[in-house]
Amino acid sequence: MIRIEAPAKINLFLEVTGDRPDGYHDLATLFAKVSLADGLTLKKTGKPGVSLRVVNKANLKPLKTGDNIVYKAAMAFFEAFKIDPSAEITLVKKIPVGAGLGGGSSDAAAALKGLCLLYGVNADKNIKKLMAAALALGSDVPFFLTRGAFSAGRGRGELLTPVKTKGRLPVIILVYPGVPVYTGPVYKALKPVAAAEAAGNIKKLNALIKALEAGESLKDWGSLLFNRLEEPVLPRYEAVRRAKGDLVKAGAPAVLMSGSGASVFALAEDRSSAGKISKIIKKSNRKVFLVDFLLKS
Ligand code: C5P
Repeated sequence: MIRIEAPAKINLFLEVTGDRPDGYHDLATLFAKVSLADGLTLKKTGKPGVSLRVVNKANLKPLKTGDNIVYKAAMAFFEAFKIDPSAEITLVKKIPVGAGLGGGSSDAAAALKGLCLLYGVNADKNIKKLMAAALALGSDVPFFLTRGAFSAGRGRGELLTPVKTKGRLPVIILVYPGVPVYTGPVYKALKPVAAAEAAGNIKKLNALIKALEAGESLKDWGSLLFNRLEEPVLPRYEAVRRAKGDLVKAGAPAVLMSGSGASVFALAEDRSSAGKISKIIKKSNRKVFLVDFLLKS
């Protein structure tokens, strides 16, 4: 039996650099894995097929097994490696869904990694095949296959460059405002980004990466955080807008929406100031998680 964790991510930076002929958008983003995680256990059963049990500790709506990305990832694994499907997978879901935290993508990557271990497939030697399967499952899945905790992502998010951070990293106050936001409509609602503006923002992204690699403190790079997708989301989702506003009012030094939302995060220098902020912004339908950046996975 294999047990594997599927961490959430936040995007410290996300600029949209263009439309693509395949309907997706080109991005310049900075992904970071965090310590909120789903859990997967995988077993060989000897019976044909893949069975999936979900223990739902988040806001996952009941899905047909075939629609779950973990099931799709498992089938993609068996197909890619020409193995007869035979596995039982349990998913303990803790990462909110429709949250911009990459939960489903991370689950899919964990299923691919877990099945490699279970079936003795060398993931390093087969990384090209695994990355292709990952990208077919979703734009964020390749990032979760990487070992590093921070990566810059271009293309749909699959052209990854690892970022090695130095020094002590801030504590994260992660807020799920209680309503999901789905990714497709967010990109549809996005107005074209002026090329000059995107170019200026990429300079900021490079400065942010440099600051993290140099081990600079939050006050030196907090103002560089940026997410273009706030533009289509904040005006349309009051709950997201309020979560962001409340974090700013609570005095958090850096506040940003993650991915296509709905989560908003704040960074704080230490656990005690993070604790104070989290107390202030806890409201009945919000979920607040105090989490850390991961250093590797
Ligand atoms: O790849 P994924 O399934 O996560 O993407 C969900 C939707 O988000 C896509 O159907 C597309 O509309 C949009 N998207 C995009 N460009 C990206 C990633 C996602 O347009 N780089």
